[in-house]
Amino acid sequence: MTLTIEGLHAGYGGGTVLHGVDLTVPEGTALAVLGMNGAGKTTLVHTIAGLVKARSGSVQLGGTELARRPAHAIARAGVALVPQGRRVFASLTVAEHLTLSRRKGEWTRQRVLDLLPRLGERLTHKGNQLSGGEAQMLAIARALLTQPRLLLLDEPCEGLAVDLAARVRSVVAELTRTGLTVLLVEQQPEHARAVTGHLVHLENGTLGAVTEGDEGDTQGAAGISVLR
Ligand SMILES: Nc1ncnc2c1ncn2[C@@H]1O[C@H](COP(=O)(O)OP(=O)(O)OP(=O)(O)O)[C@@H](O)[C@H]1O
Ligand SMILES: [Mg+2]
Repeated sequence: MTLTIEGLHAGYGGGTVLHGVDLTVPEGTALAVLGMNGAGKTTLVHTIAGLVKARSGSVQLGGTELARRPAHAIARAGVALVPQGRRVFASLTVAEHLTLSRRKGEWTRQRVLDLLPRLGERLTHKGNQLSGGEAQMLAIARALLTQPRLLLLDEPCEGLAVDLAARVRSVVAELTRTGLTVLLVEQQPEHARAVTGHLVHLENGTLGAVTEGDEGDTQGAAGISVLR
């Protein structure tokens, strides 16, 4: 489904972080939002997901207005967030995470494990026994099992070694090819460019024009065996 945002304002207490954000992400495409530390990238995805309340403006997914609806209703409408820092549960196993997130739909547990085979080998490991890359894969798996139409990814490659970051990028690039709409937040343009050619900068609470960079990392995403 297409994501359309118009005139979005949001912030915390007396401060405004988003000063009128406008963007469109057509169905089945990925847009990367780049910005410095503190630019408001997390605030943007949290506002879309309903974790921060929009003060004004519109957030529509497939024509349905989501702004100011509760977070659980926005999730049910098809928005899934892979949060910055992964946020997996330390004391739950991989298998338990997958069971808890599961809703009926096209993303079955098997399909998710086919996409992320490493997780299948770690099913009995607890959240605090996973490497950073494995935890990131789990965070993505958990989001997919909620059957999203829009996937919000908040710096998925942050803190990962170069090879693990490349694996995460190729998974995300592959997801856009399944028809999912993806909004990716990144600080490093090279991570973003490996996933999508559509880039936009968040600065002073507003977005600039979308620039067309290189095409995504088609080579890395072509063979999912690369992920092992
Ligand atoms: N819960 C909060 N309460 C008050 N202010 C906040 C809160 N969360 C973020 N901020 C402020 O909002 C601004 C934007 O923060 P945000 O986390 O959205 O930035 P970011 O672009 O995601 O940064 P980073 O790249 O470091 O993750 C910052 O000035 C930050 O201090
Ligand atoms: Mg952030």
